[in-house]
Amino acid sequence: MTEKEKHEIELEIIEDAKEVLKNNSSGAFTNPSKLLYPHQWFWDSCFISIGIRHYDTERAQDEILSLLKGQWKNGMIPNIVFHGQVYKLKLPKMWRSEVNPFSPDDIKTSGITQPPMLADAVVKIGEKLDLAERKNWYRMVYQNIIKYHEWLYNERDPRKQGLVLLIHPWESGLDNSPPWMDELHKNLTPKWIHYLEKTKLDSLYSIFRYDTKFVPSYQRLNNTDAMCLYYMQRKLRNQQYITDRILGHDSFAIEDLTFNCILAKANYYLRKIAKTLNKTLPSNLMKNMELTDKAIQELWDDSTGQFYSRDYLTHELIKVPSIASLMPLYSGVIDRDKAIHLVKSIESHDSFSMPFPIPSVPVKSEWFDQNRYWQGPTWINTNWLVIEGLKNYGFNDHAEIIKKRTMELIEHSGFSEYFNPIDGSPLGIDNFSWSAALAIDFLMT
Ligand code: GLC
Repeated sequence: MTEKEKHEIELEIIEDAKEVLKNNSSGAFTNPSKLLYPHQWFWDSCFISIGIRHYDTERAQDEILSLLKGQWKNGMIPNIVFHGQVYKLKLPKMWRSEVNPFSPDDIKTSGITQPPMLADAVVKIGEKLDLAERKNWYRMVYQNIIKYHEWLYNERDPRKQGLVLLIHPWESGLDNSPPWMDELHKNLTPKWIHYLEKTKLDSLYSIFRYDTKFVPSYQRLNNTDAMCLYYMQRKLRNQQYITDRILGHDSFAIEDLTFNCILAKANYYLRKIAKTLNKTLPSNLMKNMELTDKAIQELWDDSTGQFYSRDYLTHELIKVPSIASLMPLYSGVIDRDKAIHLVKSIESHDSFSMPFPIPSVPVKSEWFDQNRYWQGPTWINTNWLVIEGLKNYGFNDHAEIIKKRTMELIEHSGFSEYFNPIDGSPLGIDNFSWSAALAIDFLMT
């Protein structure tokens, strides 16, 4: 293929991606998918604005500002914001954010958060603005980011160790990722769900499921896992989404690796924003931020040569491998020798190397399933995070290779939600917003 032909294909992908983002737009914000996810999601909007900033900085800013309309009075940013007249819809009714006194008065939201991609998105949008506009933009969101990071440390790091705990797998953004499901199966699956599974009565649950009306069930969570997640959500609602209360009941909590790596990077971007504005961050927050950079190192396990999430209650590493193991590259706070180790696992055929990398679970894992959601398929956002991470440590050639393979996936299978890592076939819903937005970012950065 000539350079000219390659360029034409890239231009076509950019135009198609813009069209997807236009069709998924709901006024000031973008749905991850009009069909499957008809609301606003936290980290989706961050990835979406990172793509949109290349051709419409105003819309990219609006995306973030609409998300912040859902921010709680205590600083929490929910993973879902329900804009408009949604009171009769199933999801807002299920969450009932009003049970918590800090939820916003004029807008319904979920009651839990998602990986803190906000500061990265804000800075990436800022890169496309001139200095005066950038300062203005940063001023608009500075307090929101501070309040959010303070909430994370105050509410979710009770032992003041620098690692934030999560109370539901949905908060990790990688809903049914093996480390989470392993813990859930061991600790929290109620007897009645086991009973339904044994008697195969769990199949009846399909009637109530919304996702499998659009996507074949073998590509989604199985019924037992889906029931467990909804059961857990209900328990959180009963405790009004108050962390103290939740921890006091028979719950489980995880210091999630992906989340904390993203937090470390978000802290880096927050420092950058403060510097541009000539401001000093609150001293308590700064202390906590420093702790995070150090605490991520504690998640390394020498015997297996990997980073892992940690169980908050038992303080033990959850040694179940997943794509999260690579996220310390994105954090930028690990030593170079560990980063080299991670790069080797990306190259290894026993681990993450596959025809269409990077699988969400390494191929040798007993959990690996090439088609099932976060248990094997390749996702564009995690590829984006790993590529950013490789660049942090100067592995630019590796970053280029993964970017090239990611664009091949998109060229052949469109802007799917996720992809089969063996044959590259499309999985999940099509015309998925962050796949489109991050393709634009790959091609225009
Ligand atoms: C699923 C994904 C999550 C995403 C949401 C909306 O729940 O696991 O990461 O934010 O869908 O796209």
